[in-house]
Amino acid sequence: MCGIIGYTGPRKTAKILLEGLRRLEYRGYDSAGIAVGRENAEPRLEIIKSVGKIAELAKKMPEDIDGSWGIGHTRWATHGGVTEANAHPHTDMSGKIVVVHNGIIENHKTLRTMLGKKGVVFKSETDTEVIPHLIASYYEGDLLKAVLAALQHLEGTYGIACIHANEPGRIVGARNGSPLIVGVGNDEMFLASDITAMVAYTNRVIYLNDGEVVDITRDSYTITDRHSNMLDKQVDEITWELGAIEKSGFMHYMEKEIFEQPDSIARAMSGRIDEENATAKLGGLNLSRRQLADVHRVRIIAAGTSWHAGMTGSYLLEQAARIPAQAELASELRYRNPVVENDSLWFVVSQSGETADSLYAMREVQRKGATVLGICNVVGSTIARESDGGVYVHSGPEIAVASTKAFTSQLTAFYLFTLLMARMRDMSREEGQKFTRSLLAVPEMVRDALAQRDHIQAIAKKYCRAKDFLYLGRGILYPIALEGALKLKEISYIHAEGYSAGEMKHGPIALISPEVPSVFLVSDDYLHEKTISNIREIKARGGPIIAVGVEGDTEAMALADDFIAVPKADPRFYPFSMVVPLQLFAYFCALELGRDVDQPRNLAKSVTVE
Ligand code: G6P
Repeated sequence: MCGIIGYTGPRKTAKILLEGLRRLEYRGYDSAGIAVGRENAEPRLEIIKSVGKIAELAKKMPEDIDGSWGIGHTRWATHGGVTEANAHPHTDMSGKIVVVHNGIIENHKTLRTMLGKKGVVFKSETDTEVIPHLIASYYEGDLLKAVLAALQHLEGTYGIACIHANEPGRIVGARNGSPLIVGVGNDEMFLASDITAMVAYTNRVIYLNDGEVVDITRDSYTITDRHSNMLDKQVDEITWELGAIEKSGFMHYMEKEIFEQPDSIARAMSGRIDEENATAKLGGLNLSRRQLADVHRVRIIAAGTSWHAGMTGSYLLEQAARIPAQAELASELRYRNPVVENDSLWFVVSQSGETADSLYAMREVQRKGATVLGICNVVGSTIARESDGGVYVHSGPEIAVASTKAFTSQLTAFYLFTLLMARMRDMSREEGQKFTRSLLAVPEMVRDALAQRDHIQAIAKKYCRAKDFLYLGRGILYPIALEGALKLKEISYIHAEGYSAGEMKHGPIALISPEVPSVFLVSDDYLHEKTISNIREIKARGGPIIAVGVEGDTEAMALADDFIAVPKADPRFYPFSMVVPLQLFAYFCALELGRDVDQPRNLAKSVTVE
């Protein structure tokens, strides 16, 4: 969702804020703004806002703008349309108190009415604007005190950064439900909703928890709770390097991230395979062998692409470890009053570790006594911290809004967990060794799939003008079909539906015509013949077929109009090699159609509102 950056220190503040916003842009990109303070005899703040991307904001930036402290924001609209007036920062009536906010103030209507009665005139339609006015109503020369008083009235979620023109160099931040991280530098401090905004300058960070408030100047920070009790927080060192968040010669982050997969998958399994015993070592689970043996059901909470990873994991767990498993949409589960059984182990899968739906669903089942393990990418993220244990997937920063490498790393985590659980149950050492060998071969499988790049680009060119697509798969390839369709929708804006190939005859087949291509995922397992019949059904109705199948599958090759081959492997592992051509296909369709690949319209990378 929205991104926040704050800086206080000796560098050119406007430049730091703008650069931070560029790095945060993947969180939201419909409008942006900054406020920069100058410490003159008469301290003053300059505010610049713009509709559109950060590049538009940069164009509006005066040459001579500078200062020594400031805050910035990139917006993904929730309350109020995309206009300059609704862009952040927002100010009080005097223009001296300036706020940026990520989240939703749920009682903003009540607060608006209350403030309106006191004579406040609002300039925007946002929920955020109540915050600076509320702070102003308590301000008596100390920004922290006024913020603390204002917070007592706010209901909902927020990550806030706030400055006052008369208090140079000071930034006050507060967190409740929306991420906020303090960056500790030498004679400079940062505040941001995401590490990427400050990783170029410092690798020392403090993660704020809900209910915490931070007061920073260039050489100090104090963290308290909302009742001014001092907190002693640990400073964490992060290991990301700047190179990890650059495009490194690729045209788009998405392309870079797709091609990183052999390495990111290898990282996800590194040090976690015990070849001798043909099992997995997952130290972060925080569960004893006894506790793992007592697990009789696995339930997985996630959203979007992570949900597809969870669903693939559920098929695998049932098949290979014989544990009933089910993936649930976080947004549905939370409001379903879920039943939490004693013998169930829960997972929450989230690349960002901040998705509101997933986080709240996790808290709901935890409240009912569930043990929840996190499968997260972002170290120190809220879900990672609040879960009872888990697996970091170590994909490295994923910047493109459409998730690719995080997905295959999440899959890797499920394959490792399945190996561990299966070996504690019915899987023999020999079978375990076979599984382990296949797992270790995944990076190579993915590399082979990536080598089809040009072939896939040519197919994308041929089909990208179609208005609708069907993506069809069976068994463990069904969630991969869903993922392929999602990728195409997200970045090319072409309508695509993922379906179980067996379900097609119960409805979607009515859509088939020469204008509607179907992308089939064809395994060479026990479902091969069934899938081939489904292809024939579509062919008979004149639908074009693109098949992703196994090398040497002459039947699928003969039926398909276009065929993308992946190397023969243990069929349980085809999700890895078959999702890659679908990622590339979506990428090349979007490229051909001139779409904004990394920042598709209306989407945000990290959805921190419900
Ligand atoms: C958003 C993103 C998707 C992502 C989903 C879940 O919708 O646009 O790409 O899959 O959130 O995100 P998470 O960070 O929880 O994996």
